[in-house]
Amino acid sequence: MDAHDQHQSFIKTPQQLVVVLLLSFLVPILGIVLLVQLVLSGHRADPQALTPEAVAARLQPVARLEIGAPSAAPGARSGEDRGKPAAAADGKGIYDKVCFACHAQSVAGSPKLGDKAAWAPRIQTGTNAMLQSVIKGKGAMPPKAGNPSLSEQEIRAAIDFMVSQAK
Ligand code: HEC
Repeated sequence: MDAHDQHQSFIKTPQQLVVVLLLSFLVPILGIVLLVQLVLSGHRADPQALTPEAVAARLQPVARLEIGAPSAAPGARSGEDRGKPAAAADGKGIYDKVCFACHAQSVAGSPKLGDKAAWAPRIQTGTNAMLQSVIKGKGAMPPKAGNPSLSEQEIRAAIDFMVSQAK
């Protein structure tokens, strides 16, 4: 009995046994609960960074362009517009949908609408040269202003509108 007690010196009463048994269950469970909380709180931080507002703020100039582009798709012209010749393209309408994203505020060094000094040297190169700049892209302006569905006539109409504002 003495030898037995020496080995079991840690647990001497049934109460102690119960406590040790309980702890041996509770400690791992507590660990799991804490781990789960850690993982969950980690996930809670992520969605905040991925809210549309936060993403939009990070992507801003590009996102504005992407949002403007599809809605401005001239392919999506309304029924009454579709039959008209492309030459009747609404330059101001296209500017308002696509080009304003940069040219209203001189974004990325773009010549601002109505800024005569910024436009004068470009106007001097002629409409065709400017048209080529927009079709191929120039500087921070992506080809076709990031809207591949724009036709040449529509871009020309938008340029004509912008030029008319700078005279
Ligand atoms: C993503 C921004 C952005 C959008 C959208 C945009 N532009 Fe531009 N645009 C620029 C920048 C930047 C320049 C200046 C490029 C340079 O000179 O380096 C520029 C220059 C121009 C020029 C002068 C080109 C030249 O030869 O000097 C014209 C014309 C022009 N844009 C027309 C348009 C038209 C028309 C649209 C809409 C269909 C449009 N832009 C949409 C950024 C944009």
